[in-house]
Amino acid sequence: MPTRSGTGAERPWAAITGASSGIGAAFARRLAPDHDLLLIARRLDRLEQLAAELLRRHGTRAECLKADLTEERDLTLVADRLAADERLALLVNNAGFGTPGRFWEGDFASQEKMHQLHVTATLRLTHAALRNMVRRDRGAVVNVASVAAFVRSARSASYCATKSWMAVFTEALYLELRGLGSNVAVQALCPGFTYSEFHDVAGLKRTALAPAGFWMTADEVVEASLEGLRRGKLFVIPGWRYRVFTAILTKLPARWRLAFEAANSKARGRAVAAMSQPL
Ligand SMILES: NC(=O)c1ccc[n+]([C@@H]2O[C@H](COP(=O)([O-])OP(=O)(O)OC[C@H]3O[C@@H](n4cnc5c(N)ncnc54)[C@H](OP(=O)(O)O)[C@@H]3O)[C@@H](O)[C@H]2O)c1
Repeated sequence: MPTRSGTGAERPWAAITGASSGIGAAFARRLAPDHDLLLIARRLDRLEQLAAELLRRHGTRAECLKADLTEERDLTLVADRLAADERLALLVNNAGFGTPGRFWEGDFASQEKMHQLHVTATLRLTHAALRNMVRRDRGAVVNVASVAAFVRSARSASYCATKSWMAVFTEALYLELRGLGSNVAVQALCPGFTYSEFHDVAGLKRTALAPAGFWMTADEVVEASLEGLRRGKLFVIPGWRYRVFTAILTKLPARWRLAFEAANSKARGRAVAAMSQPL
């Protein structure tokens, strides 16, 4: 059941999935001064805390929608909301998670849920939003992919595959919209390591994954995304290190790329092992 807070005149409307923490919450805080918000996630208490904060600070009208986007019923509810509201200016498909183990080691259900969340939910919600936006010739969809769309690592097979799908899907939509001369924008946001709850949920120790210089804040990621929207950029890779890194890596011959990715996979293995050690 949705809950609503805030008052005031109608403003552009931004819908954010996975708004209860990390990058999604950072999007909400950054958009709150000049948008009404639809905040979507499973933890309603966290959404309501955020909505109360945004109401207090900016007078933002925020609707909180408790939804598990891997559940057909909840997904339909959210898609219907996106299709119906004429004020929809921005959809951020941000909800996501990672898993720690090799593909066959963990339970199949979590692998399947990852595909449902990163692929099916993105597909469904983007369809609902674009039907609404293209008709009005305004609006934008940000699909939060990852640097993992370009760089694979072991113990991350479904994650890399689904994030690659998000990037390819967004690029093809970009071509369709450009072909129409549409003013509707799409963006594949591809962050590298970002401080959030992501690695706690995935069971990965941050310090074993990458040196401090490679970690960004959720606010920095969101700022890069919004700047990218202003400049009409399709791919936004926050942080110069990641831009250089992906530019080089994606141009390497497959043999060299695989050698690098094997080393990267070892770091991920250490990050999993470090989490399972007693403190
Ligand atoms: N952190 C990084 O290093 C990093 C790097 C590259 C890309 N990303 C991507 O950035 C996005 C945001 O992640 P984050 O770093 O901000 O992690 P986070 O803090 O763990 O946030 C993940 C969000 O997704 C929501 N979520 C998870 N499963 C859901 C489901 N079944 N239905 C609805 N909502 C669900 C969570 O809310 P509830 O638990 O309340 O449902 C939470 O709000 C993800 O797509 C992730 O893949 C993260």
